Amino acid sequence: MTPPRYLLAIETSCDETAAAVITHDRHVLSNVVASQTDLHLRYGGVVPEIASRAHVQAILPVVKEALAKANVTLKDLEAVAVATRPGLVGSLLIGLTAAKSLAWGLGIPLVAIDHLQAHIYACQLATQQPLYPCVGFVVSGGHTNLYHCPTPITFNPLGGTIDDAAGEAFDKVAQILNLGYPGGPVIEAAAIHGDSHAVQFPQAFLHEDRLDFSFSGLKTAVLYAAHGTPGARAVPPPLNTQRIADLAASFQRAVIEVLVAKSVAAMHQTGETRLAVGGGVAANKAFRTSLSSAATRHGFEVFFAPLDLCTDNAAMGGLGWEYIDARQFSPLDLDVTPGLVRVSTDHR
Ligand code: KG4
Ligand code: ZN
Repeated sequence: MTPPRYLLAIETSCDETAAAVITHDRHVLSNVVASQTDLHLRYGGVVPEIASRAHVQAILPVVKEALAKANVTLKDLEAVAVATRPGLVGSLLIGLTAAKSLAWGLGIPLVAIDHLQAHIYACQLATQQPLYPCVGFVVSGGHTNLYHCPTPITFNPLGGTIDDAAGEAFDKVAQILNLGYPGGPVIEAAAIHGDSHAVQFPQAFLHEDRLDFSFSGLKTAVLYAAHGTPGARAVPPPLNTQRIADLAASFQRAVIEVLVAKSVAAMHQTGETRLAVGGGVAANKAFRTSLSSAATRHGFEVFFAPLDLCTDNAAMGGLGWEYIDARQFSPLDLDVTPGLVRVSTDHR
């Protein structure tokens, strides 16, 4: 029997400080996530400077905990993988600096991974079936992007949001409805008691072929429905519990119908038979149900990231093994790439 091989993965692209140990046969031995949600709560969104400082404080304890939980030591590690793109520059830098230091100190390879490819790869970790080639759909707080993914480490953008990401819209609408932060889970909970057809909100690009998204008009429409349209005489219905539930349900339906329609269109346009969906919004049960039945109707398979691997985590950095197997390592003078990478080639 060959001895196990261990990869340490680090993730700090936004507001979660995370580390995980994954074996070469893709077993997640530990998956530690230190969430900063409490720190950003009162601002209703992530404050980059606060995020960077919190990463500095959390990174070493989180890495130590991941190693301890996996019952491995630094000497057991074969490589260190780290998300270097895209994300908040200050946040990415903390993870990359930690990963470089470990790689240099231990004399092991550094593997730079793409955070969005990792969100998609979370689906592969949950199935024994080969997932690639597939269409990858990242629906998170920062992104709403469709990709054609020939392999785990190559992808071509098919479309994406031109303004807010879907998760960001959930967060902002939750603020408008005074439901708290992060918005996804609270909107989902409120929507259960609401009438999803109470209000017909705008659904940008729904009937167009393009695989792009826009959620900012929808967000404004919810604002006006909740608090009134500026300059209009009509007074909106009182924002009581039932009205909040109706607006949450109508908003959620508007988003989900667009996400599902574009997923189906992407499958038709690429001719692929497998769709992999990751990112925080992929945790939404109504979305999972609606997309699963669309997949059955349209004859493709849909794979969701497991619930605990939808929001940011380092276990999905098991993707690092794919780079290692392809002998794609990174130099120690590597920098982060905060912006979205728009082409499929290797950027390290
Ligand atoms: O993937 P993630 O942790 O962050 C980014 O990489 O951007 O996703 C966080 C986003 C937040 O906007 C949050 O509101 C949303 O995912 N989210 C959800 C749900 N759980 C988290 N959105 C809808 N329904 C949910 N159940
Ligand atoms: Zn993410």
